[in-house]
Amino acid sequence: KNMGRAFVYVILGGGVAAGYAALEFVNRGLSIGELCIISQEPVAPYERPALSKGFLLPEAPARLPSFHTCVGANEERLTPKWYKEHGIELILGTAVKSADVKRKTLLTATGETISYKILIVATGARALKLEEFGVTGSDAENVCYLRDIADANRLVDAIQSSPGGNAVVIGGGYIGMECAASLVINKINVTMVFPEEHCMARLLTSKIASYYEEYYKSKGVDFIKGTVLSSFDFDSDGKVTAVNLRDGRKISVDMVVVGIGIRPNTGLFEGQLTLEKGGIKVNGKLQSSNSSVYAIGDVAAFPVKIFGETRRLEHVDAARKSARHAVAAIMDVDKTDEFDYLPFFYSRVFTLSWQFYGDNAGEVVYYGDMSGGGTTFGAYWVSKGHLVGAFLEGGTKEEYEAIAKATRLRPEIEDLGELERQGLGFAVTT
Ligand code: FDA
Ligand code: NAD
Repeated sequence: KNMGRAFVYVILGGGVAAGYAALEFVNRGLSIGELCIISQEPVAPYERPALSKGFLLPEAPARLPSFHTCVGANEERLTPKWYKEHGIELILGTAVKSADVKRKTLLTATGETISYKILIVATGARALKLEEFGVTGSDAENVCYLRDIADANRLVDAIQSSPGGNAVVIGGGYIGMECAASLVINKINVTMVFPEEHCMARLLTSKIASYYEEYYKSKGVDFIKGTVLSSFDFDSDGKVTAVNLRDGRKISVDMVVVGIGIRPNTGLFEGQLTLEKGGIKVNGKLQSSNSSVYAIGDVAAFPVKIFGETRRLEHVDAARKSARHAVAAIMDVDKTDEFDYLPFFYSRVFTLSWQFYGDNAGEVVYYGDMSGGGTTFGAYWVSKGHLVGAFLEGGTKEEYEAIAKATRLRPEIEDLGELERQGLGFAVTT
C-alpha cells in the first residue's frame, strides 16, 4: 500500500521561483524535513535565462552547477548539497500527475502520494508546439525548442551538427531573438520568420524594434516578416531539410529553432482553483482561491498594484520576487504587506543590452542616439498624464536604476516635448 510522505511545505515545480523560495524559507528559519520540492527536471533549480545565452556560447559555455539559483541575483548558489544540508527534500525527475487541493495531496508519476499543509505551485510554463498551429514535425531531431536543460542540450547538438550551415528561427519574440544571436555567434546563417511586422511586437514599438533588426541584419541575419511556416520537407531519416512558408517561399535548412510563445502549466488545478489570464489567480500575498495553495512565477496571475490590475508576467525577476513574497507571507503573515511589484524585463544579445520597467501603454517619447551599432537610447511611455514605462538600451547601472525609480514614482508629465528634450536626464533627476 502507498504510504506516501507528509511535509509542512511543498513546492511543486523546481525552476527559478522554487529556488528563490527555498532560499527565502531557509533565511527565515526552516526546520529540517519541513520542505520538499518536486520537479520533473532531473537537476536542482537553476537560472533558466542562461539557457539562451551563456549555455549556447561556442567558447567556455555555462554548464551546471555554475548557474544554479540564486546566482542570478548575486546570492548563494544552491547546489544539491545545500538542499541536503538544510534538510530540504529534493524529489527530482518526478512529475506530479494529479493534485487534490481538498485532501491536500499530490500524486507523483512514481505512484507516491505526497501531502502538504501549504502548497506553493511553481510549475512555470511549457513551450507552445507547432502542432498547435497545424504544422507537424516538432519531433524531428533538428527541430529545437528551448525551455529546459534537455532542450538546451538538444539545441547545442544541433548547432554542433550544422557548422557553417543554415538555420531558420520561427518566432520573433524573446527566444527567437536571443537564439538567433547565439546561432550567429556559432557561425550559423540565420533567417528569422515571424507573422508580425517587427520583432518583439508584444513589448517594443516598430521604431525600437527596427534598431535591433538593423543590428541583426548587419550580422547577416535575414528577416521574413508577415508570414508563418506552413510545413517542413523531410529527408529519409526524418530530418527537416526545408521550411515552406505560407507566402510560397521555401528555405533550405540544417536546423530549425522554434520560439512561438508559452502556456502556463495550470492543468493540475483546472476546476480546483480560480484561473485568470491563463494563470492561477492569486491575491497580494500570492495566495490562490484555496487558502492553503500559493502560486508564484510564470504560472501566477497576481495583482500589479501600480497598474491596478491582475497580470501574469513571464520574466525571471517576477519569478524571484513573487517567490520571496509568498514565503514571507506564509512564514510571517502579520509583517507582510501586499506584493507591490514593478514589472521589469531585460534582454542581452551580442553586445547589446536593454532594460524595461513598467507598462508599454500610451504615448511614446524617444531620446538618445538610435543610429545603431551599440549606441545609447531610450523611450518613455506616458499614459493619462503619467510616466508609466521606461526603456533603455546601452545604459549604465546607475542609469537603469534611475529609469526604474522614475517609473516607480509615476511622475505627472505635462509636456511631452519637454520630456523629449530632457531625455535620460529626466529619469536621472527625478
Ligand atoms: P520555471 O519554468 O523556471 O520552472 C517550472 C518548473 O516546474 C520546471 O522545473 C518544470 O519541470 C516543473 N514542473 C512543471 N510541471 C510539473 C509537474 N507537473 N510536476 C513536476 N514538476 C513540474 N526572463 C527574463 O526576465 N530574462 C531573461 O533573459 C530570460 N531568459 C529566458 C531564457 C529561456 C531559454 C527561457 C525558457 C526563459 C527565459 N526567461 C527570461 C523567462 C524566465 O526564465 C521565466 O520567467 C522563469 O523561469 C519562471 O520561473 P518559474 O519558476 O515560474 O518557472
Ligand atoms: P514570446 O511570447 O516572447 O514570442 C512569441 C513569438 O511567437 C511572437 O513574437 C511571434 O513572432 C511568434 N509567433 C506567434 N504565433 C506564431 C505562429 N503561428 N507562427 C510563427 N510564429 C509565431 O515567446 P518566446 O519567444 O517563445 O519565449 C518563451 C518564454 O520565454 C516567454 O515567456 C518569454 O518571456 C521567456 N523568455 C524571456 C526572455 C527574456 O526575458 N529576456 C528570454 C527568453 C525567453
